[in-house]
Amino acid sequence: MKSRQCYPRGLGLAFAPDVSATSAPSPRPLIQALFLLVSPALDIQSVTKRYGSLQALGGVSLQVQPGEFFGLLGPNGAGKTTLISIICGLARATSGAVSIMGHDVVKDFRQARRALGVVPQELVFDPFFTVRETLRITSGYYGVKGNEAWIDEILANLDLTSKADANMRSLSGGMKRRVLVAQALVHRPPVIVLDEPTAGVDVELRQTLWKFVRRLNEQGHTIVLTTHYLEEAQELCGRIAMLRGGQVVALDRTSTLLNSVGGLSLKVLARQGSGESQRLVQPLRHASELESQLAALRTQGYAIEDVELVRTDLEDVFLKIMKQPESGAF
Ligand SMILES: Nc1ncnc2c1ncn2[C@@H]1O[C@H](COP(=O)(O)OP(=O)(O)OP(=O)(O)O)[C@@H](O)[C@H]1O
Ligand SMILES: [Mg+2]
Repeated sequence: MKSRQCYPRGLGLAFAPDVSATSAPSPRPLIQALFLLVSPALDIQSVTKRYGSLQALGGVSLQVQPGEFFGLLGPNGAGKTTLISIICGLARATSGAVSIMGHDVVKDFRQARRALGVVPQELVFDPFFTVRETLRITSGYYGVKGNEAWIDEILANLDLTSKADANMRSLSGGMKRRVLVAQALVHRPPVIVLDEPTAGVDVELRQTLWKFVRRLNEQGHTIVLTTHYLEEAQELCGRIAMLRGGQVVALDRTSTLLNSVGGLSLKVLARQGSGESQRLVQPLRHASELESQLAALRTQGYAIEDVELVRTDLEDVFLKIMKQPESGAF
């Protein structure tokens, strides 16, 4: 049957949280052995991409296991969309290989494409069709027949039912983005890649969308998400890769990344002598370190103007990894 892919529903889900490319080896050899029997949902091997003299990807390798909710983060121009374009066959890697559910995206393009649903970053749509027609055409592209019940379910879950017969060009930007999400799901792909699906989308839809995507993940779908909303990535993703300048600069479980910068951040507004006020940030492992850190600042001649103690979040980790000046420790 063309409309549904064979993929290990229960398997992926049950074992996904235990996968980590860089953390210590899992103490569960049985689970590791089972992974060897199941193709990764996404297998990216030493992928490079050149645009003329620009090296957009400089040898990216990572694997996403079936059932994972995986985050691909990075600043503008890091190479996220380039990697996704290679995954979905819109661009060719200069070197390296990518496979989806065991299907090479070049040699086995059709199978790879069927296993994948991509929500592109750019809004692309045909203005002459209604929302429902657009979804029927996309179903036809994948050879899926009799898809009306699923189309209705997708429309309802994305709060698009009332717009089903509206022409695409009459929709607002946020609504067009919802249709892009719907299009990525019509063939029930086991692997769903979302390239900034919530850019320009209102708060209500974001919550509706995440509820739906989370449910798809619970049902066994593998989700790969890129977003600049780091709080969304922190809440949703079990593992995260961070790209910078076309290279993977971090790849770990979200919890491990959060712990890597300490559980707390001490944020201080302070002035040294007659200089300008400065914002200083210091990670703390425990609240008991607070007094000694403040004392250290006073010893260095700082007059403290404001103090804030906050839980470390993914933004702190991201800034530290990307070496932004804001995260400079004192
Ligand atoms: N078709 C293209 N031709 C030439 N250069 C390109 C092309 N597509 C992307 N690039 C360049 O490759 C680099 C990576 O771009 P990419 O779109 O992958 O970044 P991104 O991580 O998705 O960024 P953003 O967060 O802004 O979406 C950038 O320097 C970009 O200018
Ligand atoms: Mg992009």
